[in-house]
Amino acid sequence: MRIERVADSAAAAARGAALFAACAARAIEERGQFVVALSGGSTPRALHACLVSDEWRPRVDWPYVEFCWGDERAVPPDDPQSNFGMARDTLLEPLEIAGERIHRMRGEAADLAAAAADYAAELARVTGTPAQAPPVLDLILLGMGPDAHTASLFPETAALQVSDRWVVANRVPVLDMTRLTITFPVIHAARSVVVLVSGAEKASALSTVLTGPRDPDRFPAQRLADAGGTVIWLADEAAHAGLA
Ligand code: 6PG
Repeated sequence: MRIERVADSAAAAARGAALFAACAARAIEERGQFVVALSGGSTPRALHACLVSDEWRPRVDWPYVEFCWGDERAVPPDDPQSNFGMARDTLLEPLEIAGERIHRMRGEAADLAAAAADYAAELARVTGTPAQAPPVLDLILLGMGPDAHTASLFPETAALQVSDRWVVANRVPVLDMTRLTITFPVIHAARSVVVLVSGAEKASALSTVLTGPRDPDRFPAQRLADAGGTVIWLADEAAHAGLA
C-alpha cells in the first residue's frame, strides 16, 4: 500500500486518470479486457472529467473496458443520488459506452438481497471468476467518507463481517437507508485499488486510517491495508493535513 500526496483535487483526478489508463493498458494487453469498478460520491466527478478530456480520452482503449460499480444507493438510476446516474452523465454517455459493457447494480430493486446476489453473479460472469471465489477485478476505484467508510462499508454495519458473499445489501442506520455494496473479499482480491481522497473534511479520518490504532469496525477503510493487490491512496494536501 502506498500514499501519493498531490496538490489538490484536480491533481488527484489527473493522477487518477494516469493510473486508470495504466491499469487498463496492462489488463487489456494481458487479458483482452479491463474490468473496473467505479466509485460513487462526488470526488469521482473530477476524475471522470479528466478521462473524457482530449488529453486522456485517447489513452484508454474504451471498447475493451467493462464498467462495474463498488456500491449503489437504493434508488433508481435517474435519482440524483444514483452512483450509476452520476457515472452515466459524467463518463459513460460522453464516452458513448455500449450498453452491454455497463454492469449496473439495480438499486431500484424491491428485493435488494436478490439484487446483490444477481450482481455477484454478474461480476463472476464478467471477470470469469468461479462463483465460489471473490471476483477478481482489475481496478476498484474507491473514495472514503469522513467516518472512514469506503464503498458502502460503513462503521459498525453488518457488511463488514461478511466473508463468504461478494455483494450484499447493507443497512446503514446512520443514513437510514440500505445500500448495495461489494464486500472486503472483493476489494482484497482486486489486482489494483485506487482510493481518491480530497478535502479537509477527510483529514482526520485519513490520519486515523493510515496511522491510528487498528479498529476496522469503527474505521472500515483500515482494512484496505489487508488487500492482496496494489493499493494506492491519492490524497490532496487538504486531506493529507492530518499526516506528518
Ligand atoms: C458513495 C461512495 C462512498 C464515497 C464516499 C466519499 O456511494 O457515496 O461509494 O464510499 O466514495 O462517501 O464521498 P465523496 O466523494 O462525495 O466525498
